[in-house]
Amino acid sequence: MAAIGTQELQSLVKPDRIHRRVFVDPAIFDLEMARIFGRMWIYVGHESQIRKPGDFLCTRIGREPVILSRHADGSVHVLHNRCAHRGSKVVTQECGNTKRFQCMYHGWTYHTDGRLAGLPMQAEEEKDGFDFSAPDFGMRPVARCQSHHGFVFANLSPSGPSLVEAMGEARHAFDEFVAAAPDGEVELAGGCHRYEYRGNWKHQLENLTDTYHTVATHASTVAPDGTQFKRRTGTKGTDVQFYDREKRPVILDVGVTVYPGGHSSTESLFPEGQSGGVWEEYRALLAARHGIERANELLTQKIHNLTLFPSFDLLVVQNAIRVILPIGVDRTEVRIYPVRLKGAPEAVFQEQVRYVNLTHSASSFVQSDDLEAFRRQQEGVESDAQEWCLATRGQKRERYDNRHVGHGDKTTEIGQRHQHQAWLDLMCAE
Ligand code: FES
Ligand SMILES: [Fe+2]
Repeated sequence: MAAIGTQELQSLVKPDRIHRRVFVDPAIFDLEMARIFGRMWIYVGHESQIRKPGDFLCTRIGREPVILSRHADGSVHVLHNRCAHRGSKVVTQECGNTKRFQCMYHGWTYHTDGRLAGLPMQAEEEKDGFDFSAPDFGMRPVARCQSHHGFVFANLSPSGPSLVEAMGEARHAFDEFVAAAPDGEVELAGGCHRYEYRGNWKHQLENLTDTYHTVATHASTVAPDGTQFKRRTGTKGTDVQFYDREKRPVILDVGVTVYPGGHSSTESLFPEGQSGGVWEEYRALLAARHGIERANELLTQKIHNLTLFPSFDLLVVQNAIRVILPIGVDRTEVRIYPVRLKGAPEAVFQEQVRYVNLTHSASSFVQSDDLEAFRRQQEGVESDAQEWCLATRGQKRERYDNRHVGHGDKTTEIGQRHQHQAWLDLMCAE
């Protein structure tokens, strides 16, 4: 594979446009796996999914298969899913509970922290002086692994900023999300929606800060006669209208904030939050812990979603997370998990699971629209009829403060511009 030089990479991302090659070139995808997924903090799972000793789940960091496991002493590990002996993938189950991981090829077994536990006919080898406690004989842990509110991120690179440093300014929204749990903790307890689409992973990433597409792509849901969002419970903040009295879509006013490192957030369409019914019970639980003023603040949802570059999204309004897992240059997997705010009334969680089903299940009216858009984008950029994809919208109105936090209003494309600049910086760092 011919290396792609810095100059060549720089020619692909302009302040207001992205070259189509960024979405279709397999050599670019290979470089992304090394320089982005090989160096950044990548979400692997939540500690609540591996509650008991021996619990594990399998996932990927870029193309690298890994296992998130809970060891006998309660510690959390992220291991490369590869046998030290001759290299087989060790665990093929998606998740489960086990005392040891066993490779099916020659039967080597490993403790859930990756140390070699034993191998068939070990005594013979030991007589020959092999030291099986050496790290070479174990399943290798990833270079770094850190949690934030139980969300485990791993990094294949031993050096670079810590997870919290990498989140930087974006961390505040993350912490506010968890603070809305009366017990101060969250868990993944509502299953998972998974989908794959024939398109590049960055189509999904770009879409996370794309408020502009909503009125067109999701017309069947958000049109004045659309009824999807009227199904929210409570007595106020439920009758969400996407159009104001002048028949102007309200989403046009929603702004986007971008943070150093390629992270971003979009403002909430439902800033008032929900009230009435079970929401008052929830408010009282929060007030008991934080006081009523703070409880009201926590129930006011200022942010719709928070995207941590490159592949993690916190859907604040829907209480869920979305994870992007690239498969190939034109194939992507996405997983969505409802998040339970511990200590909140069960009815609130049920409502949130229902809402995620409404927007993100295979038969939903919302996500399926986006998938069709991603598929068409890929088909479009595979043609060389035109070289560039434009992201010009709102460029003249965007503002950055002295912490390098940027803001754009009215269906701005600041988020897409910012993501691709972060992409370029990482791709150019050798
Ligand atoms: S490759 Fe795993 S035991 Fe041989
Ligand atoms: Fe969408």
